Amino acid sequence: KNTVGLVGWRGMVGSVLMQRMLAENDFDHIDPVFFTTSQTGQKGPEIGKDIPLLQDAKDIESLKKMDIIITCQGGDYTKEIYPQLRKAGWKGYWIDAASSLRMDKDAIIVLDPVNQNVIKQGLQDGVKTFVGGNCTVSLMLLALGGLFDKGHIEWMTSMTYQAASGGGARHMRELINQMGMLQGAVAGELADPASAILDIDRKVAEKMRSADMPVDQFGVPLAGSLIPYIDAQLDNGQSREEWKAQAEANKILGNTSNIIPVDGLCVRIGAMRCHSQAFTIKLNQDIPVADIEGLLAEHNDWVRVIANDKQATMEQLTPTAATGTLDIPVGRIRKLNMGPEYISAFSVGDQLLWGAAEPLRRMLRILLE
Ligand code: HSE
Repeated sequence: KNTVGLVGWRGMVGSVLMQRMLAENDFDHIDPVFFTTSQTGQKGPEIGKDIPLLQDAKDIESLKKMDIIITCQGGDYTKEIYPQLRKAGWKGYWIDAASSLRMDKDAIIVLDPVNQNVIKQGLQDGVKTFVGGNCTVSLMLLALGGLFDKGHIEWMTSMTYQAASGGGARHMRELINQMGMLQGAVAGELADPASAILDIDRKVAEKMRSADMPVDQFGVPLAGSLIPYIDAQLDNGQSREEWKAQAEANKILGNTSNIIPVDGLCVRIGAMRCHSQAFTIKLNQDIPVADIEGLLAEHNDWVRVIANDKQATMEQLTPTAATGTLDIPVGRIRKLNMGPEYISAFSVGDQLLWGAAEPLRRMLRILLE
């Protein structure tokens, strides 16, 4: 059995990865070694089998003994440890949730339902570094895989509605605290049906703008509002999150020439852990909506085409419906006024599952085949 080192398994993405690995019995097929940055020598997690005590995640000699390392520890850890480990001659497989190595020419971005061929070719060519994609990009490709696969997309925009979890665990807590604070500011008035709505609204707005609002993580209120900027500011007017869409999508698909333009605005909204996206897609030909739905539905086992019907959309195409599941609902598929080659679509997906943890554990299983 392969010896597999796990780093950063206690954080939010790491914990989701652990849940999924336990659910899929992944630990039966490997000899896991858990690493830590702070608790070396202590007992590891309960996974239904004996495991060694926790090892030091910064100890290159211990890491070097691993056949495979999976890390959810974050970009700073990767930047510090990965080069040292390779320099020390380590030839194992590195599977990473962080973005640092994604665009490295020696790394493949993994999303096997979409780029199994790129992964298999990479393995044949001796690639040893596999990185999970940005969450919106992975969720977009799973939703629209059927159209990309057939080469029907000339260009597209993705306007995102991204959940608090993309910022991290503390951001999720802050969002709920903000929500509670707003409700608390007007609880008395809400309980009185005769109270004036404009008074309630004014008090809520005052609270949102007050110094009491907890905004340490987001910087500004998110509850009752939104933030149309995610990740760092680039010189070309894009946010870094927006830049990733085209760069990563084309890399995942293995497009080195004939780059498909993908661009749009990325917006943080008050959802917990599901990212949603509205797409405008320019097809390279007029394809009937029913055929588009068929292509999308048959592309992978997780995409769910939702009829463009109000009730079905409200019940099935929301973060509330998708959260905690591997389903990728995609709906609102219709022709736009711009012409028969222009369609809209809307998708939702859990950014901690397919957006982060799931592609990593699936890459592990591919290595074990
Ligand atoms: N950058 C993403 C976000 C999460 O902030 O929503 C990680 O891919």
